[in-house]
Amino acid sequence: MPPAGEIRNRKLICLAGFMGSGKTTVGQLLARQMGWHFVDLDAVIEERAGVSIPAIFERLGEPAFRELEHQTLVRTLGEAAERERPTVVALGGGTFAQPESFAVLRSTGCAVVWLHCPIEHLLARCATITNRPLFRDEASFRQLYEQRLPFYEQADYRVDGTAEPRRVVEQILARGHFEKVTT
Ligand code: S3P
Repeated sequence: MPPAGEIRNRKLICLAGFMGSGKTTVGQLLARQMGWHFVDLDAVIEERAGVSIPAIFERLGEPAFRELEHQTLVRTLGEAAERERPTVVALGGGTFAQPESFAVLRSTGCAVVWLHCPIEHLLARCATITNRPLFRDEASFRQLYEQRLPFYEQADYRVDGTAEPRRVVEQILARGHFEKVTT
């Protein structure tokens, strides 16, 4: 992964981070403030599949979900480039930790921002949510978090995801030189 100084595409920001780190909420807010287009990768996957993510996991299994996730990512990044549309993408919690998707993200030269949250914080946020097929129990949640850390740590920017969403947005804008779109 190129260091932050080598970000080649300043019109594409991808938000990475574990389940419950606030990617969708922060992404929507960031895109609104910048006047950029927003894409929630999980929402596009569900739209394409015509069923919910838990249903995809249940009916087809995780490998099929990952394939769909990868195809959707490639298409999303391709559309943003083709239309030259500045875009914020909220990735799924596992996207940046899948080698093929990781490679595609790197090849675009976009800015990958990691919304870092300590595991205790994520556990508390996810405990009451039932639509996450990979949140089975605390032990496996902790294990998955540990497995993914080496990937998240390769993001271009790391911000404190435990802060209020508007503060997280401020941290992102303070780190990158992203152009605001004004109409
Ligand atoms: C996943 C996280 C989910 C979703 C799917 C798999 C993961 O996204 O993509 O359930 O592998 O951690 P969120 O991080 O938005 O919950």
